[in-house]
Amino acid sequence: MNKTIVAPSILSANFNHLFADIESVEKAGAEWLHFDVMDGHFVPNISFGQPVLKNIAHSHHMVNDVHIMISDPYKYAPEFIKAGAEILTFHYEACRDDKEVFRVIDLIHECGAKAGISVKPDTPISKIFPFLYSLDLVLVMSVEPGFGGQSFMPDMLNKVVELKDYMQINEVKNVIIEIDGGINKETGKLARLAGVDVLVAGSYIFGHDDIKERIDSLR
Ligand code: DX5
Ligand code: ZN
Repeated sequence: MNKTIVAPSILSANFNHLFADIESVEKAGAEWLHFDVMDGHFVPNISFGQPVLKNIAHSHHMVNDVHIMISDPYKYAPEFIKAGAEILTFHYEACRDDKEVFRVIDLIHECGAKAGISVKPDTPISKIFPFLYSLDLVLVMSVEPGFGGQSFMPDMLNKVVELKDYMQINEVKNVIIEIDGGINKETGKLARLAGVDVLVAGSYIFGHDDIKERIDSLR
């Protein structure tokens, strides 16, 4: 069993001292930094884009794990990779058909990043099975995308188990499973037991004095 990777989501960071917040999670042992891009169209919220990523991507040594909750990921993928995305995860629901999903995955790889796909709570995990041999990561949303601080949806763990089973039966290797939304000490444990490799956590980590204890509690 590999050590669980922790990916703090900067959506919950304090942008008055963003670099200090990033430094604190890196010092506390976080391996990835999760960057939530929202366009106010694919999700009913707007967060930040390429300029912010460009400014922070090289200010730390964690992996830049960029989650784009945007329409038309094909159009914007190259810009986010150029701005510093090392893993770029787009949404299945933002693509018109499977052909477009494969085009986005191929484009992300051509631009030199790892490709992840994310599914909203209402999307069956089986929808992404056809892409598993091309993907580097699957991001299971355990909240409706758009906001930090929501409550964990435990039913989403069934998707993780279904995905793990499918990968085992079909000998799919080297695909990382990440979960995102409502992760804390208790839900993080459930997610690990279900077989998740990476835990995204925003409100559980940022804005508290005991960041190291909180990050350690997720492993
Ligand atoms: C939600 C984002 C999540 C969110 C996590 O749309 O994709 O990454 O910021 O925040 P918490 O951990 O507070 O649910
Ligand atoms: Zn996210």
